[in-house]
Amino acid sequence: MATHNDVHLAIIGGSGLYELEGLEVLDEVYPLTPWGYPSDRIIIGRRDSNGPKIAFLARHGRKHQYSPSEVPVRANIAALKHLGVSVIIAFSAVGSLREEIKPGDFVLPDQLVDRTKGIRPSTFFEKGVLAHAPFADPFCEPLADIIAGQVHALTDSCTIHRNKTVVTIEGPAFSTRAESHLYRAWGCDVVNMTAIPEAKLAREAEIAYQMVCMSTDYDCWKSHEEAVTVQAVMKVMKGNAINAKRLIVAVLEALKEAEQHQAVVAKVKGCMEYAIMTPAA
Ligand code: ADE
Repeated sequence: MATHNDVHLAIIGGSGLYELEGLEVLDEVYPLTPWGYPSDRIIIGRRDSNGPKIAFLARHGRKHQYSPSEVPVRANIAALKHLGVSVIIAFSAVGSLREEIKPGDFVLPDQLVDRTKGIRPSTFFEKGVLAHAPFADPFCEPLADIIAGQVHALTDSCTIHRNKTVVTIEGPAFSTRAESHLYRAWGCDVVNMTAIPEAKLAREAEIAYQMVCMSTDYDCWKSHEEAVTVQAVMKVMKGNAINAKRLIVAVLEALKEAEQHQAVVAKVKGCMEYAIMTPAA
């Protein structure tokens, strides 16, 4: 495993966000974990010589070689945990299920509906050790507060929406129109393919986790408009990546304060203490 254990913050980049600019790269690590190798090399760097180390990992690999169902999420989270990570900001391209969430807008969800098909390994606890992680609130509100406070860093056309629900589908195909209507009727606001199992595994690892959803399209619920295509998603992704990078710089600055960091990790620290059912040997 890597020798670093003092990297407290990690950024996971989704579709369109494969690297961070303006980072002094200190190291690249590719550790073998008990769950295999992570999606790609993890970049360890810092923004200035006195600044804290941060880690960056491209969820699908830098060449986008892992489909949402194939991402080695347990290895990703385990590798970050071993580096010392206690806070993850995870970016993800999403389809919008609401008129007011325009392509190019960002969403900080506070709730999640799991529509994956149960084929993704989504727990570290198995083979004789059972735990039930508390997961009623899958995202980190104090971290969302800090991220939302950096809206000034974004281009004028980008709005940040709070308190929304993301539905995660298995993919890799996009939804049918009937499914898109169903998700709207269920109260979901955006749809993606990656919040599960990442959010669950981060919780089991006691890592504060907030997803930043970057809206790229209106999925397919608008009857008189074309349904989402990869081409349409790619068109918006470039602008989203620019805003994501601006947001990251501002959030890193805000999180420099140790107090802010403590407030963010307070809720999940120790949350698994009473979650394990299997008695210690
Ligand atoms: N990612 C970006 N757009 C999406 C959509 N419409 N459905 C699922 N994942 C997406």
